[in-house]
Amino acid sequence: MVFSWAERAWHLTLEFVYDYWHRIIEKRSQERYMEAISVDPSGDFLTLKIVNKILRFHAIWLRDNARDSQTRSTGNGQRLIALRDIPADTTIAHAELQGGWLAVEFAPEHKKVTFDLSWLEANAYDNTLPVKRGWLPPDTQIWSSELEQHVPTGDFQALAKGGTALVEWLSQINRYGFAKVVNGPVEEGALFRVVDLFGYVRETNYGRLFEVRTEVNPTNLAYTGVGLQAHTDNPYRDPVPTVQVLYCLESTAAGGENMVVDGFAAVKRLQDENETYFDLLANHCARFEYAGEAGVHLTSRRPMIELAPDGELIAVRFNNRSMAAVTEIPFDKMALYYEAYRRLGEIIDDEAMEVSFRLNPGEAFIVDNTRVLHARKGYSGEGNRWLQGCYADKDGVRSTYKAMQGDVALEAGR
Ligand code: FE2
Repeated sequence: MVFSWAERAWHLTLEFVYDYWHRIIEKRSQERYMEAISVDPSGDFLTLKIVNKILRFHAIWLRDNARDSQTRSTGNGQRLIALRDIPADTTIAHAELQGGWLAVEFAPEHKKVTFDLSWLEANAYDNTLPVKRGWLPPDTQIWSSELEQHVPTGDFQALAKGGTALVEWLSQINRYGFAKVVNGPVEEGALFRVVDLFGYVRETNYGRLFEVRTEVNPTNLAYTGVGLQAHTDNPYRDPVPTVQVLYCLESTAAGGENMVVDGFAAVKRLQDENETYFDLLANHCARFEYAGEAGVHLTSRRPMIELAPDGELIAVRFNNRSMAAVTEIPFDKMALYYEAYRRLGEIIDDEAMEVSFRLNPGEAFIVDNTRVLHARKGYSGEGNRWLQGCYADKDGVRSTYKAMQGDVALEAGR
């Protein structure tokens, strides 16, 4: 192919512009991290100055997190060595900045490894941890009844195609702990198609799915007219099912709306009102039990408010029907424990905390069962209601969300 002088000139101009911008970007990257590295004389750690942050990294941490092909699989990213393969007396022999990279030489291995500075910045640990017990990650948002105006909802037909609709729906489950699905098929087992969107069914002694059929007639209206108290499901399991899906196939009875309560919002309100109550429910294990059928005797011993060792609020268990005799509380604290339990129940029952919605055939909702309590409200007229329910796990929600976020970003960048 022969290029005209004009085409050649155009290519040269493009090359020049590209080169110029590349230099500017590289220079900016260097400036961002310029004169920003010092190694402690002991070699035990180095200090990196990034813009206005000062971040320290230990030699052993850096060596363990090396990204080279001898340390990490280039295929799946999994670590290929154990800590025993790294000398206990590992130190930093030398470190220097090379553009957007940090080059480190470790002793006594004489091993040279480079680290992407943006990776180090994203994985820095040299910062103060939150001290208030009951803290939540920034992508978790607590809510109360005001969310009823904006119930997180996905259209099944759009969700089934994947892409941004599914990513948005998963992000809402991640943020609020629940979401609705509308416009789904009205057929038995359709709830499995909801689970297929993000993960796998968790089978229990109740089967792969369980039926929730209610015939509301004048005889049983008095009984079924009573709503259930909001609860988390199956607190007697270890671990509990972390996701529940309830799918509506028939709904002709008036009333019987579904409602959800944010357990995180409820326990944080309890904490604001009375820190002692919060501590009692977080520091002592309750016990839960189910032995309602032959060959099954499920028991667990966990607190109603579960915190990680650093105080992060990670789970709420609340279910009056399966709470067993609590024996883990010292005698002189038991009365106060019951006061705290009662108050948490009152907060959960407060209408200001609840979001209600009606499920029509072909509609479903999904809850994070470690956080969001659910219930059915009472009926006010006769008819039938048929739902199918199943369990799944929220690691699938998070995994699909994270993986798809990357895919959608790639798609947008193409
Ligand atoms: Fe339930």
